[in-house]
Amino acid sequence: MIDLSQTAAGLDGYPLLTAQLEALLSGERDFIANAAQFSAFVYHELEGLNWAGFYLVKDDELVLGPFQGKVACVRIAFGRGVCGAAAASRQTQRVEDVHAFAGHIACDSASNSELVVPLLKEGRLIGVLDLDSPRVGRFSEADQRGIEALAEVLLRASDC
Ligand code: SME
Repeated sequence: MIDLSQTAAGLDGYPLLTAQLEALLSGERDFIANAAQFSAFVYHELEGLNWAGFYLVKDDELVLGPFQGKVACVRIAFGRGVCGAAAASRQTQRVEDVHAFAGHIACDSASNSELVVPLLKEGRLIGVLDLDSPRVGRFSEADQRGIEALAEVLLRASDC
């Protein structure tokens, strides 16, 4: 396991994770299979997460997809919670303290910070990647950039 919070200043563990993920997903184009592998990979390789997974766009709402962590709410309307905000705005939502985010949906009471990345394939919204942490402020700007790069690998590697 790479403890990214402990990496020396100037060193960034994400290029290695990106290369490992590319290798893991190579040879398979099925989006659900690759999203399942992605959620297991990220959940176990990034420290300090209690949930990692996907909500996928179906009939104009978000529906739970592959994930690791405790059971979660199944359907989220666009605009609701952090995931719905990422889907509606098509912008990554990096939330230092979920309790200060109006409308946050508490699936796991252990979650204190959250990063949600919209998944866009050729301008189409496929869904969102959602990472939760029990630690307030777990996700830095560097984490955001690194995790957005990981999400890009999934989109490039998969038919969706
Ligand atoms: N907290 C999210 C809901 C999904 S769970 O965290 C897995 C939200 O506010 O959209």
